[in-house]
Amino acid sequence: MAETPERAYFEPDEIVRSQNGGGKTFADILTGRLSRRGLLKAGFLAGVAASPLARALAREESFDDGLGFAPIAPTTVDRIQVPEGYRAQVVVRWGDPIKAGAPAFDPEKQSPEAQRQQFGYNNDFIGFLPLPFGSQNSSHGLLAVNHEYTNAELMFPVAKPTDMSEAQTRTSMEAEGFAVVEIKLDDQGEWQVVQESRYNTRYSATSTFEVTGPARGHDRLKTKRDPSGRTAVGTFANCAAGKTPWGTVLSAEENFQDYYANSAAVTDARETRSHERYGIPKEASEYGWERFWPELDLKIEPHGPYQHGWVVEFDPYDPDWTPKKRTSLGRFRHEAATTYVAKNNRVVMYSGDDARFEYVYKFVCDRPYQPNNREANRDLVDEGTLYVAVFNEDGTGEWRPLKHGHGPLTAENGFKDQGEVMIDVRIAADLLGATKMDRPEDIEVNPVNKKLYLVCTNNTDRGKEGTATTDKMNPRSENKHGHIIEITEADDDHTATTFAWEMFMVCGDPADEATYFAGFDRTKVSPISCPDNVAFDAKGNLWIATDGMSKTLKVNDAFYAVPVQGPNRGRLQMFMASVPAAEVCGPEFTPDGTTVFLAIQHPAEGSKHGEFTTLWPDGAGLPRPSVIAIRAEDGRVIGSKPAGASRRDLLGLNR
Ligand code: FEO
Ligand code: CA
Ligand code: CA
Repeated sequence: MAETPERAYFEPDEIVRSQNGGGKTFADILTGRLSRRGLLKAGFLAGVAASPLARALAREESFDDGLGFAPIAPTTVDRIQVPEGYRAQVVVRWGDPIKAGAPAFDPEKQSPEAQRQQFGYNNDFIGFLPLPFGSQNSSHGLLAVNHEYTNAELMFPVAKPTDMSEAQTRTSMEAEGFAVVEIKLDDQGEWQVVQESRYNTRYSATSTFEVTGPARGHDRLKTKRDPSGRTAVGTFANCAAGKTPWGTVLSAEENFQDYYANSAAVTDARETRSHERYGIPKEASEYGWERFWPELDLKIEPHGPYQHGWVVEFDPYDPDWTPKKRTSLGRFRHEAATTYVAKNNRVVMYSGDDARFEYVYKFVCDRPYQPNNREANRDLVDEGTLYVAVFNEDGTGEWRPLKHGHGPLTAENGFKDQGEVMIDVRIAADLLGATKMDRPEDIEVNPVNKKLYLVCTNNTDRGKEGTATTDKMNPRSENKHGHIIEITEADDDHTATTFAWEMFMVCGDPADEATYFAGFDRTKVSPISCPDNVAFDAKGNLWIATDGMSKTLKVNDAFYAVPVQGPNRGRLQMFMASVPAAEVCGPEFTPDGTTVFLAIQHPAEGSKHGEFTTLWPDGAGLPRPSVIAIRAEDGRVIGSKPAGASRRDLLGLNR
């Protein structure tokens, strides 16, 4: 019997129609798709062997994603699990001394002074920067790590943040920000921290930063502490990040609003509009730091919140270089700051605003990157154009420039200059008609196919009364599992202002009709929910870390591999399972792909102090967020087939 040819593109409107009762169900639509292998077997290609479609399908069929490991099953056990033949080790834990002479971790005696010399809390982004600079060394380098937030109830014997003493609060302030740690692979294949390293350093909520770009010196950056508006105090809520081609790191400040208090005291209408749009609390903050740090209290410093929500550039190779808050990249809840060298050495950066119904942004530097002149790239990021994404339901999209004087971004609408556009970029993006997405988390460029993968982690508010309804880009109401969109910039030029997109994955339990794995047979994939950070291996396979599966699927968060090309496009395989109530962040491969680093964040979150759901990694004392490294026992590339084994030999990989 003749079979229907597979369509090249998934039609997201069918999902919407199905949800609206328009006839077909998810299952009808998704299982109705014929696999590429099925097409070949059915002889569909025989009569059209010379057609571009046939050639493309044949290429896909012969594509080898190189993966070959036995996926592990979803789990709730209190242990890091990796496939057979792999080992996971803890590299560095919260409280480990990283500066020469720093005190050992003592949970009873943590102090701000000790914490400032130790590894911070809630590790998120991880960047591996080889030593020496410019090399591809995969056995010696610097780990640049973000410390996103603190869990008072896990760190200290308190029930909530406002129970913290002044010393505990100040310790928390030193536990956020970012860290640089030199590490070396030893003869046993274990990573060791080089504690005496001159590179090892910490930046925290009390460090001082230079403000650069369009908002430098702006009236709204002027504070009682610095009337020039050229510096900012503190970095916190540092979530994901990105490495630049010139070997610095762009650290993204995400949920900065939770640290501020008393926006109700602000009377200026323009500023009130801003604080409301950014969700600055009317009264007390989430963390209670303002009790001991007045700059976080808008009654005392109404301009405080303009110092945060930026991307901070720091140089792991140069601890003496003052990190810069790059206001050209806009102020929002930045999740990630991914760079990519586009055509003609123009550098672009992608960043999502991780909140419900927020936007996706791209920045294009004006000047080209100079590969052989590190100094010339120092301030490249200060000049360029920030764009916001508009997704059209027909699978096309547009990047609209956030430029003062263009379109509605004028003084009449409250934007007196470019600095103001960057400070209130959410409001500017509203006026440009940007598309409201389901919590954009990571967005990364696949080095092999050059497409972007945009991770929308979830949005349980979509479709609720008074919110945006579903659309083709965000096809589920009350979306608790998230989805991943694949974006192709026009002509594969990442500086382009138009793009095409298609749905790559609609996450969930495969038994649930609403899941969709790029057309792959749903019975052959691992369940996944709440995708967050992603990375790519050298073959262009997408690796996904999750945040929230203990709530949605009642299993531990995990780390997966999924091919985006070839016959296994969409086939998810779980590579690592985390411990209870701990998200997995920061996937980072060494240049040779033989180590993957993962950040295990907030183990035991949701527990009461002393009644922890896990005491990972020590098994005693306190749970400690830590960076782990996973390597194969035989040193092969992570996820790859063992030497001599065929794919069919591997459990779970028979096709
Ligand atoms: Fe900090 Fe959006 O995760
Ligand atoms: Ca995240
Ligand atoms: Ca997260």
